[in-house]
Amino acid sequence: MRQPFVAGNIKMNLNRAETTALLSAVAGSLRQSASSVEVAYCPPAAHLDVARAALAGSAVRLGAQNAHWESKGAFTGEVSPAMLREAGCGLVILGHSERRTLFGETDADVLRKTRAVLEAGLDAVVCVGETEAERAAGATEVVLARQVVGSLGGLDIQDPRRLTVAYEPVWAIGTGNTATPEMAQAAHRVLRGELAKALGAHTAEGIRIQYGGSVKPDNAEALLAQPDIDGALVGGACLEASSFLAIIRAGEATARR
Ligand code: PGA
Repeated sequence: MRQPFVAGNIKMNLNRAETTALLSAVAGSLRQSASSVEVAYCPPAAHLDVARAALAGSAVRLGAQNAHWESKGAFTGEVSPAMLREAGCGLVILGHSERRTLFGETDADVLRKTRAVLEAGLDAVVCVGETEAERAAGATEVVLARQVVGSLGGLDIQDPRRLTVAYEPVWAIGTGNTATPEMAQAAHRVLRGELAKALGAHTAEGIRIQYGGSVKPDNAEALLAQPDIDGALVGGACLEASSFLAIIRAGEATARR
């Protein structure tokens, strides 16, 4: 049984005061009624300190949105996994489609980063997903297979809970166009099969596959009820405590089934 995992990707949003207010509200609510869902918030690197303070004493985990693969050196503008760990992070989002399309990250980069993050003792949330053109061309399965092999192939995963895969169809991110639960489930099923080929069947059964792309309170429960959808990576809807909490509660409802 995979524990549902809901993570908020704040992206490059909010100031320090807003970050504190948002995370304090979510952490406070979850302190009052403990959740069966694993929850994380990933603020910009410059806000990790205030986020850490706001989440202190709660079960909400702190994560980063990117990391470099080297541990130190002349890499201007980069942050190492060890630095993120020292800043209080327990996990890192890697290979988000915005990193891939806007900043030129390749599958090979994502693989190097994922390996470095896991070796530094942090968990990894690795994003994959096809573009609208790839889906229209019927290439979704081929693209997902290529991304799994390229971004995760050859990793030695001892504990599958430390690696999460986020299926984020690029056409659904920030657009309001969510994949239907059936479409998302089909892609998650493909991903689990590819993970089994790349990392072994036992590992693939234990890896959480989150869905991401316009997850909102009104579509979360139907998505999370799918057998291979083990959580959500939430962008826009994580910026409001009430909507993020509603998505977490949707995860709890499916976990009880
Ligand atoms: P969205 O973003 O929920 O705003 O679509 C999701 C993501 O990019 O992780």
